[in-house]
Amino acid sequence: MKLIQITDLHYVNSGQQVHGLYPEERLKSCISDINTNHADADHCIITGDLVHNDSIETYESLRDCLRTLSVPYHFLIGNHDNRENFHQVFPETPCDENGFIQSVVDTAVGRLMLLDTVEHGQNWGTYCEKRRKWLHVQLAASRERIVYLFMHHPPFKIGLPCLDRIRLINDGHHLHKIIEPHKNIQHIFLGHVHRPVSGSWKGIPFSILRGINHQVPFDFKALEVVPKNHEPPSYAVIFLEPEQTIVHFYNFLDNSVYPYEPKSRA
Ligand SMILES: [Fe+2]
Repeated sequence: MKLIQITDLHYVNSGQQVHGLYPEERLKSCISDINTNHADADHCIITGDLVHNDSIETYESLRDCLRTLSVPYHFLIGNHDNRENFHQVFPETPCDENGFIQSVVDTAVGRLMLLDTVEHGQNWGTYCEKRRKWLHVQLAASRERIVYLFMHHPPFKIGLPCLDRIRLINDGHHLHKIIEPHKNIQHIFLGHVHRPVSGSWKGIPFSILRGINHQVPFDFKALEVVPKNHEPPSYAVIFLEPEQTIVHFYNFLDNSVYPYEPKSRA
């Protein structure tokens, strides 16, 4: 099964900039590249920070833009999003019984569990008892299945102080307590970091990729303010099979790939 992950769109209306770049143009380029090269993907998961400023008008404009994406897409929200405004514009997006934007996407290979880690008004994330209860119920009903988790905020430190400060504060160990007994979490896909990072957390592999607009520099000294830069944006092409998980990061605006011409076979 083939998935696409895109993250941290920080979308604003046409002609507006965020950190010196145009998110709407970038999202259109990303969608065009996916439609051209990966229209056969089964799902596209958008892992939060859908918009930069969380007004209803911005979500409406985002909705119009996403209409052109030919792969079925599913949302997480991030710290730049507003749960209520998002849900007003995307009312068909499933949520749990408490209104958190959490859902399960059933696939032939396994279950994709999309978690809501947003604490309104804060850049750091949380995963409260109500949300944990929902996950506990979902995992209990999925004992025979492989499970893939999707979250905006990493539940662990990655070693970059400015980002560690705004990770899933306090709740990483609570989350692990819920998932640990099940032994069926194959991979965790994350956003929020605006950098490519991979590794494992308590034995569970994870991957994080760059955003669609600005990125965060490889800076181990920054602490209070998260710096931004213009490294190239990426989307991920993910192949899920029962025995393996493969994650490719593709810099869709990197001009250096253009001289490449596939050789025809003799
Ligand atoms: Fe972001």
